[in-house]
Amino acid sequence: MFAAYATHADLDDPLSALRIGEQPEPDIPEGWVRVKVSHASLNRHDLFTLRGITAHPEGIQFPIILGNDGAGTLDDGTPVVIYPVLGSEDWRDDETLDPRWHILSEFMPGTFADNIAVPKRNALMLPEGLSGLHASILGTAWLTAYRAIFTKSNLRPGQTLLVQGASGGMSTALIQLGRAAGLEIWATSRSPNGRELAERLGAHRTFGANEALPGKVQAVVDNIGQASWEHSLASLARGGSVIVTGGTTGFDVRVPLLRLISDQITICGSIMGTLQDMKDMIAFIAGAGIVPEIGTVLPMERSEEAFRAMWEGRTRGKTVFTR
Ligand SMILES: NC(=O)c1ccc[n+]([C@@H]2O[C@H](COP(=O)([O-])OP(=O)(O)OC[C@H]3O[C@@H](n4cnc5c(N)ncnc54)[C@H](OP(=O)(O)O)[C@@H]3O)[C@@H](O)[C@H]2O)c1
Repeated sequence: MFAAYATHADLDDPLSALRIGEQPEPDIPEGWVRVKVSHASLNRHDLFTLRGITAHPEGIQFPIILGNDGAGTLDDGTPVVIYPVLGSEDWRDDETLDPRWHILSEFMPGTFADNIAVPKRNALMLPEGLSGLHASILGTAWLTAYRAIFTKSNLRPGQTLLVQGASGGMSTALIQLGRAAGLEIWATSRSPNGRELAERLGAHRTFGANEALPGKVQAVVDNIGQASWEHSLASLARGGSVIVTGGTTGFDVRVPLLRLISDQITICGSIMGTLQDMKDMIAFIAGAGIVPEIGTVLPMERSEEAFRAMWEGRTRGKTVFTR
């Protein structure tokens, strides 16, 4: 079957490890289902896989079909969206705390293919009004944004959330979800285009990257890492929280302990979300009338263009591949 996959890892030249071609059809074990992929979306995680950066110390077995997120149809034609977190068969607590957790395209083939096999519970029926196109961006960036705001931030309507790096996939989700949740949204971007996009999606105020803010915020979601870390901490009010969800520019940062203690700052990591978070998010999106922002739609055969744009820092919002 057709697939976009990684043959190996290359930290400095990830595109050299990307192949668009043929891969074997997936086996469908007992209790799993086949999803014929109609739409799949690109995440920074796919670039990390090509670069060999992974949260799993055992590393990734290549070749591996890329793609965390997707939507499509079951063999009987039922439209579904994929929840990308997998783990122990008998784990029924918070899926992100399962010691054996992983996501699609780490130890199992991902969504950039004609067909994918997933456990039955990972294929969620699409509700009325949610298209495969829009559903295909929800599994990773949107789910992480939802959990960061609704489970981790402790923010109440009217309080201010700073979103670092406005134009990214997760950041656009943070802006749309946060605005709909009644938060005051401030966002930073390296570019005027990023700031314009943030304002169109509902940000109340926007700033340049690392620009001093006119006031302190109650929470920051930072997925940029090294390049924005000091700004994130400096922007926090006493008692505030920084929710760390990524390290696009690097993971090595300094933690000023004295400031943490004296200002009672919380630093909190967050990864993906539970199956229930995904269901709650889908219901929230429908209830709030949110149309998840999509930057680019491309046939999967042209996925290399999108990988290159992400590697060169030229993406705006989510990119969806169609089959
Ligand atoms: N914790 C989790 O479960 C989870 C889930 C999804 C993603 N992540 C992580 O979150 C991060 C963002 O993921 P994403 O899919 O939203 O990526 P993305 O679409 O590529 O967005 C990255 C954003 O970071 C900002 N940025 C600032 N400095 C940058 C630089 N030097 N190079 C590139 N971008 C820079 C950009 O915003 P401006 O252009 O507006 O400045 C950019 O749009 C990644 O590190 C990813 O691995 C984590």
